[in-house]
Amino acid sequence: MKTLTCWLMLASITIPLHLITVTVTASTTVHKQQQPLTTNVNMEDNIAYHQTVMGAGDNDNSYLDDATYAKYAARYVPIDTTWQVLGPFPTGMREQDFGADPLEAFGGFRQLEYDAKAKFPSELALDGVVSWHTTKMDHHGWVNVHYPDIKWEFNQLSLGWGINQFQGWARTTITVPNIKHGEGGTSSDGLVSITIQLENIGDFYVDDERLSGDWYGYGLTRHTLRLQPGSRHTLSVRVVHEVRIFGGVILPPPSKFKCELRLPFPYGHEGPNGSYRPMVQVIKEGTGGLIVMDAVDGVLAGEYISVALRNVGVQSVVIKSVKVLQGSRVLEAQLADQDKNDIRIFPSTHRPIAVRLKKLTGSGATTDDFREGEFSLRFEVATLSPDQKGEGHIGFLTTETLLIAQRKWGEPYIYTFRDFDGTIHYAAAIPPSNPESQPSNSAPVLVALHGAGLHIDVNIHRGYDWHGVSIKNVMNAIDSLAALLPGVPEHLKSLPGIKPDPNRLFMAVTPAAGYVNIKQYVPFSSWLSNSYTDAHLRGILESSIIEFDNDVHMSNTVGIPILARTGSVDDNVPPFHSRKMVRLGQENAHNTSAIRLSEVPGQGHWFKGVLQDAVMIVFLQTHLHDTLVTLANKSQSVEEVKIVVRPPFPDTCVITVINPAGMGSKCGIQVEQLRIPYRKGTIKLEVVKGDQVGELPTWIMVTTNIRRFAFSDLHLALQRQRHGRIGKLVIDGTTFDLTGRVMSGSGSFVREDGRLSKTGQLWKIAEDDEWKQHERHRETYGPAIQVLEKRVVIVLGTHFESMRFARTADRIAKLVAHDIYQYGRGDVEVLTDCELLDRYGDSSLEMKEGERVNLVLIGDAHQNSATHIVLGDRKSEVTIDTEEGVVSIYPTGQDFEQPGTGLLMIRPLGPSNLAMVIAGLDPQGLETAARLFPKRTGMLVPDWIVTGPEMAWKGAGGILATGYWGNHWEYLPTMSA
Ligand SMILES: *[C@@H]1O[C@H](CO)[C@@H](O)[C@H](O)[C@H]1NC(C)=O
Ligand SMILES: *[C@@H]1O[C@H](CO)[C@@H](O)[C@H](O)[C@H]1NC(C)=O
Ligand SMILES: *[C@@H]1O[C@H](CO)[C@@H](O)[C@H](O)[C@H]1NC(C)=O
Repeated sequence: MKTLTCWLMLASITIPLHLITVTVTASTTVHKQQQPLTTNVNMEDNIAYHQTVMGAGDNDNSYLDDATYAKYAARYVPIDTTWQVLGPFPTGMREQDFGADPLEAFGGFRQLEYDAKAKFPSELALDGVVSWHTTKMDHHGWVNVHYPDIKWEFNQLSLGWGINQFQGWARTTITVPNIKHGEGGTSSDGLVSITIQLENIGDFYVDDERLSGDWYGYGLTRHTLRLQPGSRHTLSVRVVHEVRIFGGVILPPPSKFKCELRLPFPYGHEGPNGSYRPMVQVIKEGTGGLIVMDAVDGVLAGEYISVALRNVGVQSVVIKSVKVLQGSRVLEAQLADQDKNDIRIFPSTHRPIAVRLKKLTGSGATTDDFREGEFSLRFEVATLSPDQKGEGHIGFLTTETLLIAQRKWGEPYIYTFRDFDGTIHYAAAIPPSNPESQPSNSAPVLVALHGAGLHIDVNIHRGYDWHGVSIKNVMNAIDSLAALLPGVPEHLKSLPGIKPDPNRLFMAVTPAAGYVNIKQYVPFSSWLSNSYTDAHLRGILESSIIEFDNDVHMSNTVGIPILARTGSVDDNVPPFHSRKMVRLGQENAHNTSAIRLSEVPGQGHWFKGVLQDAVMIVFLQTHLHDTLVTLANKSQSVEEVKIVVRPPFPDTCVITVINPAGMGSKCGIQVEQLRIPYRKGTIKLEVVKGDQVGELPTWIMVTTNIRRFAFSDLHLALQRQRHGRIGKLVIDGTTFDLTGRVMSGSGSFVREDGRLSKTGQLWKIAEDDEWKQHERHRETYGPAIQVLEKRVVIVLGTHFESMRFARTADRIAKLVAHDIYQYGRGDVEVLTDCELLDRYGDSSLEMKEGERVNLVLIGDAHQNSATHIVLGDRKSEVTIDTEEGVVSIYPTGQDFEQPGTGLLMIRPLGPSNLAMVIAGLDPQGLETAARLFPKRTGMLVPDWIVTGPEMAWKGAGGILATGYWGNHWEYLPTMSA
C-alpha cells in the first residue's frame, strides 16, 4: 500500500505456522479467524554449524582451564549416531498428551529391546504390522524418520490427510564426558550439567525422565540435566508427525527431528582474577529471546526491552541489577521490577527479564556510539545458598552487543510494550502517511495478525493462536500504542489524526485463507482414544475448545462488513473453508450479499497480495478512509463523523456464546454467565422503535441458556451521552422500564436458578458486582487453560513422601515453566511452597492489588502447604488425599485408589484469580496429570480431570472422571463424565 490513512499494526501472536487476519470493531464481538500456513521454515537445514561427535575421555579427571573448556564446550556431548526406530502407529490430532501410545499395551517402548523379528500391530502398515529398523543421524544433528513400506497415498484416499498424523519411537545413547565440572566450593556434587533440546518433538525421555521438546523449532529453550561424568544414558524420542507442522500434502510425509546436546560452559567456580561466574546464560539462540525496540528519528519506540536468561546450575539465582556497559554514555538501564520481589530464576528454567531502557539527555546523546544503536548490558547475579535463604556468590553476566535499529518516521518500526502479565512484547507498526489529513481526532488501526516470516521479520509473541492470551496480547499492543504513541515524534503527538483509536477496532474483517475450525482442518476423528470412550466423555472433552469453532459463532458477525479471501487452489487450507464460512455468514444474515468471498483463481495458500492487492485496497478504503474523508468533506462536525463511522445499530441481533470468558460484547451486550457452562447460549434481540417522536425503543430479548448479562462499557457510555437509549427492556417476558435510567457499570441482569412461583419474575437486576466475590465470572470461567491469562507462579511442594516423588515433582515444576515460556514467552516464577508463604504470609495468600497472580500448585494439601491453604479456603467436591491414597468425587460417591491416579483441576484463588492443582497418588499419577497441563491450544482439558494409569495406551479412554464446575464452583452433574 502506497499511502496509509490508518495505523497498520502487525502483531505476530501465533505459532509460526498459523496466520490470522483480524481487522475488526467496537460494539461487536471479537471475531475470530485463523489460517494455518505451512512454511518449510522447520524443514531446512539452515543451521550453520556441523556437529562434531566427540569421543569421551580426553581431558580426563582434570579441571579445565578456560581456553580448553571453551573449545570443549563448543562441541557436543557424545551421542551414538545410529538410532533405533519403531513405528509408525496412528495418532490423533493433539492426542499425545493423553498418552494413547499403542506400545504401552505391550510394556512400553522404553522397556522393549531392539528385536529385528518382533512385530507390533499398526493399521497404517501392510499386513497390519510394523517392526524395528535403524537410521543414521546426519552431521547437523537431524534424524530423518522414513517408513518406505507404508502406502500413504492409498491410506489417504479414504481417510484424508488426518491419517498421515502418525507416531513412532526412536532411541539412541548418550555418554557424559568424563570431566570434573562442579559448582566449585563445598556445594559441588560432582555431577556435570548438560543442556538438551529436541526440535520438532513433543516430548522425549532421558532414561525414565520425560522432558518437553521444541515442537515448532523456536530454538529458545534447553533443559539442564545433572549427570554423572562418564555415565551412559538412553535418549528415547516420541516422534510424532503433525500435519500442522510438516504440511499435510507432502507425500511421503516428511518426518524428522533434531537433537542438540551441549556442555553449557565453565561456570559456577572462580573465573579469572577471583571473579565468580554465575550459572546463568543469556539466551541468544532461537527467536524471541531478546526483544529490543527500534529508534524512530533517534527516539526509542517504547520504554522496555526484554532479555531472557537461563539458569543452568543447581541453585536458584536472583537477578540483582542491570547496567549498560557499552553505550553507557547514551543509555541507562534498570530492572523494570526492581522495587517488587526478587527476580528469581529456578534451576533449569528460563525467564525473560524486563529491563527499562532510557536514553540519557544531554551531551552524550549525540555521540557516535549511539547512532550505531549498539549497547551491551551487564547483569549482577546472586546465587542463593542451598537452603534458599541467603545469598551466596555474587557474579556478573554480560550480554553480547545488542542493536537498536534506526528508522525514519514513516517507515515500519518495532515498538515494545508491557503485556497484561508484565512481560515485554513487541509489535510492528506502520504509521499513517498523512496524519494531517485525518478528519477526526483519532486514527483507525488496521491490525494484521500473522505468523513469523511474513512482511517483516517479526517472531513469536504468544503462541496461542488467536485464543485467550493472544487476543489479550493484541489488545494490549493496541492500547499501549494509543496511550503512549511509542515512536511518534514529539511534534506530531498532538496532531489530530495521529492517535490510534482502540474503540474503532473491529470495524471490518478480512479472514484470509482462514479455516472453519481446527477439527475441520485436521480431523480429530482418528483419535486412538475413540475406541475406548463413549460419546458423552468425548463431548465433555471437546466442549473445552468448542468456543473456538468459528462456524458456531457466525451469528455474531451479522452487520460487520466481511471480505473473505482464499486462493482457488490452496491445498493447505482449501477454499472449502472460506466458502463454508461465507455460506454461514449469509445464512445468518438472511442476505446473499451480506458477506463477500474473493476467491482468486490459480492462487495457493496465503498468496502474494492477499492483503495488499486492488480488491483489498478498495475494501480497506471503503471501511477505513473514504468513509471518513467523504463525510468530512460534507462539512460535518467531528462528532457526527465518528457516529456515522460505526456501523448503524442493528434492529435485530443474535448473540451466540459458548464461553463468556473468551467473548467480548455484541450489540452492546456482554454475556457474563451461562446457566449450564460450556453449552451454547443465545440471546435474540429485537429493537422495536417507538411510534412517537422522541420515544425510546423497546428491546425485546429471548434467551437460551443465559444466566447473566450486562451492558458493555461502550454501550453504557452511549447511554450516558444520550440520557438512556432504551425505553423498555423485555427479557423472556420480564419487563424492566429503563426510561431515563442509565445502568451502573457494575450492574447486571441475572436469571434466577429456579422460578419461585409460576408468575414470579425470571430475571432481576443485580445492582452491583458483589456476586463476583463468590461466583465464577469472565476472569475465572475456565477451562483450565485460562490459568495462563494472568501472571503465573508455579509452587513446588516440599513435603513429598519419597525422594522419587520429590524428584518427579521438581521436574514437573520445571516442565510447566518451560512450556509456558516456550509456547507463550510467558514469564513464570517457580517457588517452593515455603518461599511463597514467606512472601505472602503463612496462613492465607492475601495478595495485594497489582500483585495478584495465578498459581500452579504441584502436590496435594499434604505435599504442598500452598495447596493446603488454597483448597482449605473453599471446599472442593473433587479431592485428592495422598495420605489416604484416594481421589474422591463426593456427590457421586466415587473413590479412585489405584496406583497411577492423578488429578489436575482449577480452583478459585480469591475472587478473581485461579489456582491449578496438579497432583497424583504416586509419581506416575502426578506424571499423567501433569502431561495435561494445557500448554498449547487445541488440548481438550476441561476444568478438572482425574487421570488413570490406562491412559498410557487408552488415551482419553483411561480418564477416570472429568468435567466443568458450575457457576458457584460446584460439581456439575450435567457437565461431568
Ligand atoms: C586479571 O588481572 C590482570 C592483572 O591485574 C589484568 O591484566 C587482567 O585484565 C584481569 N583479567 C580480567 C578478565 O579481569
Ligand atoms: C444485504 O447486505 C448488503 C451488504 O451488506 C446490504 O447492502 C443490503 O442492504 C442487505 N440487504 C438487505 C435486504 O438487508
Ligand atoms: C476532501 O477535501 C479535500 C480538501 O478540499 C480534498 O483535497 C480531498 O480530495 C477531498 N476528498 C474527497 C474524498 O473528496
